[in-house]
Parts: sequence; structure tokens; C-alpha cells
Amino acid sequence: MPDYSGKTAVITGAGHGIGRAIATRLAEDGAVIGIIEIDAEQGEETKELLRKAGHRAEVVAADITDAAAVERAVAGFESTLGPIDLLVNNAAFTDAGDIDGIALDDWHKEIDVNLNGTYHCLRAVLPRMKARHSGAVVNISSVNGVRYFGNPAYSAAKAGIINLTQSVASEYGRHGVRCNAVLPGSVRTQNASWEIRVRKDPDVFTKLARWYPMGRVAEPEDIAKAVSFLGSDDAGYITGVALPVDGGLLAGMNVMIDEFILESKD
Ligand SMILES: NC(=O)c1ccc[n+]([C@@H]2O[C@H](COP(=O)([O-])OP(=O)(O)OC[C@H]3O[C@@H](n4cnc5c(N)ncnc54)[C@H](O)[C@@H]3O)[C@@H](O)[C@H]2O)c1
Repeated sequence: MPDYSGKTAVITGAGHGIGRAIATRLAEDGAVIGIIEIDAEQGEETKELLRKAGHRAEVVAADITDAAAVERAVAGFESTLGPIDLLVNNAAFTDAGDIDGIALDDWHKEIDVNLNGTYHCLRAVLPRMKARHSGAVVNISSVNGVRYFGNPAYSAAKAGIINLTQSVASEYGRHGVRCNAVLPGSVRTQNASWEIRVRKDPDVFTKLARWYPMGRVAEPEDIAKAVSFLGSDDAGYITGVALPVDGGLLAGMNVMIDEFILESKD
């Protein structure tokens, strides 16, 4: 199990779903936790859950699209919690459908939160890691960053995050800083787009399972385990990778093969 004793991890968007699972996992692995979350109430709830479990955690209510607010949050964590060893860029937003239907404001918002917000956090944290010649970043991208699975603005931003991960890995390796991306497939959370789909069809996660070679969608903890590994010293020579944590979704088109190719051999 990765050992984060004596380390500080900052996670964005840890008030819900995957971010909360990542914060919990890293705390269980020994890290002190800083949370940047736009939803103040949910951020407080995660902090209290961690504290009740005996972990040290602080939260700052901030919007990652506000670069100055992110800088203040990061400076605050460095003085209260200590130097940031790991940044997890997890906060994200999408609720927009297809290229035809997306409103211009929605396009801008999705690029702003998902891509610019991630950059704001990197911009605040990287100079501090560089000065200490030590640190790691894990960016939460998506399988949408490498294939079409709907949500075009979100997907373009998630593709941008993968390229940004490579830029940071290339520029900061010599400064002792690693940067990797995790690409989840479908994860059972209550984010805005899943809420819409579950309202339409309460069985959506069960129905989706057939598209996954491993026969199920992910739980938030599946993603948290991968983040914990990539952010830890166990991954000390790994940088610049985009790791799918997708139950095999990107590996092949299993449904097409099962239904149209293997079947035709019968
Ligand atoms: N759930 C999935 O199926 C899935 C699949 C692939 C990738 N992901 C990625 O995993 C991450 C977490 O997803 P989730 O399903 O837990 O989403 P979620 O919506 O449940 O959680 C996202 C969190 O980010 C916070 N947030 C949103 N905008 C913010 C802003 N401007 N500033 C600060 N915080 C903000 C929200 O309040 C929320 O707590 C995201 O990066 C998402 O793109 C999720």
C-alpha cells in the first residue's frame, strides 16, 4: 500500500463522488488533506468525515476558474498544512449534450472549469514544487479525452488535460516533479450528467456494464486506488502517462465482436 505518512495532498472537487473517495483513500494512506471545493457545504462534509475518522483535513471554498482564489487557497494550505507533496486535479463539470445542441456559454463554461481550472491549480502549485525539487500531480482526465463518448466540450477539455500532463511531465521532470493522468470510464457517481441519465433510466449503470470487458462500471474507490499509486513514491519513475482505469473499455469493442463477429461463426 502506498505510504503518504508526513505528506500533504490537495484534491480539488473532493466534496462529491470520486474526489471524496480520493481524499479518503489518501488520508487512509497517511496524507494530510487539503480540499478546494466550490460547493462549500459538501466540502465541509468531506472534511468532517475525514476528521471523524481521525485524519487531518482542511477545506477552502473556492472556484478553480478563479486563478487568484486558487493561489490564495494553495498559499493557505502551505502555511497551515505544510508543503504540498501531491496535487490531484479532480474538479470538473459537464451537462452539455452534442455539438449541435450545445449553447456557446455552456461550451465556454466546460472548457473553463475543466481545462483552465486545472491549469490554474498547476500554476499555483508547480512553482512551489519546483523550488523544493519534489512533488507529484495526478490529473483526472477521462476516456472521453481519447475517444468519442459524447459531451464534446468536456471531452475536448479532457483531451487538453492529457496533453497538459505531458507538458508538465516533460518540463518538470528535471525539477523532481512527476505528472500523470488517470482516465476513468463510467464511474458510479451522482454528477450532473449521471443524474440526468439515471432520471431517464434508473438501470443505466447495470445496462452499461455489458460494454465493459470486466462486466461492471467503476466505483469511485477504483479510481482512488490508481490515484494513490500514481501519486506515491511507488510510481517514482512514472511520469507523463495517461492511465485508463476503465475495466478494459478502451482495449477493444467487445460488444461488437460478441454480437456481430463471434456470433456469425455459430
Ligand atoms: N463519474 C464518471 O463516470 C467519470 C468518468 C470519467 C471521468 N470522471 C472524472 O472524475 C472526476 C470526478 O467526477 P465525479 O463523477 O466525482 O463528479 P462530481 O460532479 O460528483 O464531482 C466533481 C466535484 O467538483 C466540484 N467542482 C465543480 N466545479 C468546480 C469548480 N469550478 N471549482 C471547484 N470545484 C468544482 C463539484 O462541486 C464536485 O464536488 C472529474 O474530473 C470527472 O471528469 C468521472
